[in-house]
Amino acid sequence: MSNRTTAKPNDLSAFWMPFTANRQFKKEPRLFVGAKDMHYTTHDGRTVLDGTAGLWCVNAGHCRPKITEAIAQQAGELDYAPAFQLGHPKAFELATRLVDIAPEGMEHVLYTNSGSESVETALKVALAYHRAKGDGSRTRLIGRERGYHGVNFGGISVGGIVSNRKMFGTLLTGVDHMPHTHMPAKNAFSRGIPDHGGVDIATELERIVTLHDASTIAAVIVEPVAGSTGVLIPPKGYLAKLREICTKHGILLIFDEVITGFGRLGAPFAAQFFDVKPDIITTAKGLTNGVIPMGAVFVTKDIHDTFMTGPEHLIEFFHGYTYSGNPIASAAALATLDTYKEEGLLTRAAELGPYWENALHSLKDCPNVIDIRNVGLIGAIELAPIAGEPTKRAFTAFLKAYEKGLLIRTTGDIIALSPPLIITKAQIDELFDKLRDVLMNNI
Ligand SMILES: Cc1ncc(COP(=O)(O)O)c(C=O)c1O
Repeated sequence: MSNRTTAKPNDLSAFWMPFTANRQFKKEPRLFVGAKDMHYTTHDGRTVLDGTAGLWCVNAGHCRPKITEAIAQQAGELDYAPAFQLGHPKAFELATRLVDIAPEGMEHVLYTNSGSESVETALKVALAYHRAKGDGSRTRLIGRERGYHGVNFGGISVGGIVSNRKMFGTLLTGVDHMPHTHMPAKNAFSRGIPDHGGVDIATELERIVTLHDASTIAAVIVEPVAGSTGVLIPPKGYLAKLREICTKHGILLIFDEVITGFGRLGAPFAAQFFDVKPDIITTAKGLTNGVIPMGAVFVTKDIHDTFMTGPEHLIEFFHGYTYSGNPIASAAALATLDTYKEEGLLTRAAELGPYWENALHSLKDCPNVIDIRNVGLIGAIELAPIAGEPTKRAFTAFLKAYEKGLLIRTTGDIIALSPPLIITKAQIDELFDKLRDVLMNNI
């Protein structure tokens, strides 16, 4: 006999929701039941403008026909193929297409199912690469304060968001962190790339290298633009300086492009936008327009070729997932790349950027706004916390915006915006009119 006596068909209690205030949500549920292009439909029949591309992933907007049709067709043709020692054509076709739009020198792709898995994969590639080269003492990983690299153990170890780390023990050993790049005293209300402090703050990496000795360090991992911590844009010269220091000391540089990949900044990848070449790039989210879980890790030819030695019947890298390059995910990603190409979405943020920036910074006069920052189609509005109740002001803004038909995302007391790349100028106006309304009303 089942003892399922408490759950009713529409009971909300069984699902322990991720990164959610579960008790608040279940008292006041916010459910989406439909979506099209720039909008969601709620369970109570309202339309909500998507100011966040879901979770930074629906770059081409919702329910795009080419993608949904590709998924349906693939599901009826080849639903699953084992990923180990076997393959299917679309996974290879997709990797070739991905390498085509990636920064020069990124010639190979490993598949994952999420951003978190892409990060774990990248860290493991970095460690194994040095070992394969006979440089096995390079085992340290360097992340950054306030960094977000997903929720698995490697990712939270190199990550620097305290609440994502503090409950989970001692994490990976041999990890150190560079300082974050947020310097409001110097850079508040910057438009685009902040001017000040970039090279100095990047030079802190030299201090860490001196402390541990370069011969113990495998890789440095950063988000080119930190997203989840509340949008921290690297000041001028920062990423180039990191590249210079890593190259000098034989350390691999990993860009975690899970949110910046696939057009968010106005170029396919942040590496191209900033003109700084990492050795490894992690992606997910926009790869399939968020529709099917999939991630991809790009590596250079040198990294790949370092593993391709020894007897040919032996597995070169002991890593992979049951769903690596899954046929339906591959079909979704191919259709997503087609949609991006046909509609020029991988560079659209560059065209819309100036309009976006002006509209965003027009909120400067709203109460409690202490900083506004932007790059590509990303914006952040930092609010002064309510004394003794951090995060509450931004969360209230989130709830009020939702009531007014606008989806925003908040982290701490920061509002982060990252709409689908198909947003029109009229919809940008609508977004900021609604947000002004929220911010002007006593939150
Ligand atoms: C930079 C970065 N890395 C990794 C992740 C984790 O991705 P996922 O939630 O798909 O595991 C995220 C998610 O927001 C991210 O922003």
